[in-house]
Amino acid sequence: MKNKFQKIRAEFLEKLKTVSDVGGLRELELQYLSRKGELSSLMHELKDLSVDMKKELGALANNIKNELETTFNEVKDQLDKLSVKNALVDITVPGVEPVHGHLNPITIIQREMEDIFSSLGFTIFDGPELESDYFNFTALNIPPFHPARDMQDTFYVDSKNQDGDLDLVMRTHTSPVQIRAMRKLGAPLKVVVPGRCFRNEATDARHEHTFYQFEGLVVGENINFANLKSLLELVGKKLFGPNTKLRMRPKFYPFVEPGNNGEYTCFLCNGQGCRVCKNTGWLEIVGGGLVHPDVLRAGGLDPEKYSGLAFGFGLTRLAMLKYGVTDVRLFNSGDLKFLEQF
Ligand code: DAH
Repeated sequence: MKNKFQKIRAEFLEKLKTVSDVGGLRELELQYLSRKGELSSLMHELKDLSVDMKKELGALANNIKNELETTFNEVKDQLDKLSVKNALVDITVPGVEPVHGHLNPITIIQREMEDIFSSLGFTIFDGPELESDYFNFTALNIPPFHPARDMQDTFYVDSKNQDGDLDLVMRTHTSPVQIRAMRKLGAPLKVVVPGRCFRNEATDARHEHTFYQFEGLVVGENINFANLKSLLELVGKKLFGPNTKLRMRPKFYPFVEPGNNGEYTCFLCNGQGCRVCKNTGWLEIVGGGLVHPDVLRAGGLDPEKYSGLAFGFGLTRLAMLKYGVTDVRLFNSGDLKFLEQF
């Protein structure tokens, strides 16, 4: 029996020398070291021996088992290392550059505006593109049959409310979200609302049925015109550089009183007059004013206690001016030659 153990040992070590891959190793393990392998089977036979013999041969068998397992594991480690080495990738092969998409210039401007206003403590608020007639007009002090509705050519959606009114419109501006924000957040509040708007326009290089605005609303106690002016001045400097000036001229919007048109000195010619500003030196970019008491009321706030300022930037127009885009239709065209420039 002693010889049998020695024979297994010799055979195993001999075969181990010739093994060259993990598969061969596994075969050896099965044949000799596994639970049903030759070594275990032989060790199993020890139980029939006398106590003395069991002791002697048992010790020998255990020594051999340890030796074979240790040697086996050493060879296995070496082979494992080798196979990792062989599988290594060649890091000198040039990579394939993934194709990157491009942000639409309107998205770029929108994010820039969001950064400016977030840094001033504004919340970014969202509202629906399919809006009720009430929020889009009536709550903003534009009742049915008011001539101010003619200022905006509206896409009415063919659905009716309980009273039989045509109640849904594609929002013509982001201003309805003012009402939603006041109702949801209460006062005081500071929100901006970037968003897509729609008007029934005949499209040409300067008009598009789908465009973007960027609304702002601040409500609190003692909010005044100086707050509006300083805020718009600051934003103009951040957008177009520190020398930018703001000029405000009266303009009627039903939801503010007083209302105004904000113009910035042309960033291209510094107010000297050029192609972009049509030789005026000024760029008309933002409407604004102090929130009309009726609008505060529609938002659920007491105009005796609170006042507010509001403004609306033409985001699409801003992108056109800033990037010198001469045809508004390019933004939604999906034309890669255009988009890849940004
Ligand atoms: N909603 C206006 C438009 O579509 C822009 C505007 C003007 C927004 C004055 C305002 C505002 O919040 O106070 O032309």
